Amino acid sequence: MKAFALPILALMLSGNAAAGDPAHGKQLLEEHCTQCHDSSVYTRKDRFITSKEALSKQVHRCAINSGAQWFDEDVADVVNYLNATYYKFK
Ligand code: HEC
Repeated sequence: MKAFALPILALMLSGNAAAGDPAHGKQLLEEHCTQCHDSSVYTRKDRFITSKEALSKQVHRCAINSGAQWFDEDVADVVNYLNATYYKFK
């Protein structure tokens, strides 16, 4: 039984799962998203993402291109991390 307690506790501590877990997003990003571009595309002057919806679509598109098989929750976590760290959309 003990093996189940920790993940459940972690879920509870991570709070609002629906809003996306940025720490998990960071981990996913580092694992899957550095083959084609590094983080400089998120901060460049002429970046083409101008809304959270667009960010979400782009992450989804890039996730497919990277070959990662992500759930919607994974996409949401990465969007959340990218937004909190670089884009800062409301
Ligand atoms: C197969 C190659 C490839 C992989 C892997 C990849 N990307 Fe991309 N990504 C691109 C290309 C190409 C662009 C467009 C770059 C450009 O216009 O210079 C881009 C652009 C982006 C942008 C928009 C940057 C802007 O201008 O604001 C985001 C956000 C992004 N990628 C996220 C991700 C995420 C998250 C992952 C991991 C799932 C990922 N990418 C993995 C190819 C890739």
